[in-house]
Amino acid sequence: MKGAALRELDRQVALLDGSQARLRSIRPSDASGLKELFGRVTPRSRYLRFHHFVSGLTDEEARRYTGVDNPGIFGVVVTVESGGDERLIGVGHYFRGGTATAEVAFLVDDPYQGHGVATLILEELIEIAKRHGIETFEADVLGENRQMMEVFQRAGFPLRTILKYGTLHVSFSISNHVPAN
Ligand SMILES: CC(C)(COP(=O)(O)OP(=O)(O)OC[C@H]1O[C@@H](n2cnc3c(N)ncnc32)[C@H](O)[C@@H]1OP(=O)(O)O)[C@@H](O)C(=O)NCCC(=O)NCCS
Repeated sequence: MKGAALRELDRQVALLDGSQARLRSIRPSDASGLKELFGRVTPRSRYLRFHHFVSGLTDEEARRYTGVDNPGIFGVVVTVESGGDERLIGVGHYFRGGTATAEVAFLVDDPYQGHGVATLILEELIEIAKRHGIETFEADVLGENRQMMEVFQRAGFPLRTILKYGTLHVSFSISNHVPAN
C-alpha cells in the first residue's frame, strides 16, 4: 500500500496565480533541497513552524524528514522549475502519533505563501493518511498564525481547538474527506 501511494503521487498542479508547480511525495534525494528551504525562509516562518528560533534543519532532521522507510512519517513537497533545476517551495508532513492519529506541519517559502501551496499539500496528505488508517489530524499552531488556521478552516472540517499557553491545539477528523477533484 505504501509503495502504491508513493508511486501515484507526482502531478502538475496550478497555484492560485495560475503558475504551474509539481506536487509529489518527498524523496531521500530532497534532503539538501529541504535544508535549503528551511535555511532560506524568514526567521518568522521558521519560528511559526517550530515555535522557537532555529537557523534551519540539521542533517539528521533533513534525513528523517525525507526518509521513505519510516512508516510513521510521510512528506509531500511542491516544487517549481528554476533555471532548469527543481526548486522546493513548500513541504508538509504528517507524523503518526497514536494508531489512528497524526500530527501535521507545513513550511512554505515566503514568496509563495498565500498561493495555495499548503492547501494543495493538506488535501494530498489527507488522502494518503486515510489510506494508511489515520482518522484524525492534529496540529499545534501558534495563536498568531492566522494563515495556518485559514488553511485548516478552508479544508471544511469541524475543527476542535484548545488554547494552551498561546498555542492552539487543533484536531479534526479526516474520515469524511471528499477529494477536491
Ligand atoms: C502557514 C503556511 C504553511 C500556509 O501556507 P500557504 O501555502 O501560504 O497557505 P495557502 O496559500 O494554501 O492558504 C493561505 C491563504 O490562501 C487562501 N487560499 C488557499 N487556497 C485558496 C483557494 N483555492 N481559493 C481562494 N483562496 C485560497 C487561504 O484562504 C489563505 O488566505 P490568506 O492569504 O488571506 O491567509 C505558510 O504561511 C507558512 O509556511 N508559514 C510559516 C510556517 C508555519 O506557520 N507552519 C505551520 C506550523 S503547523
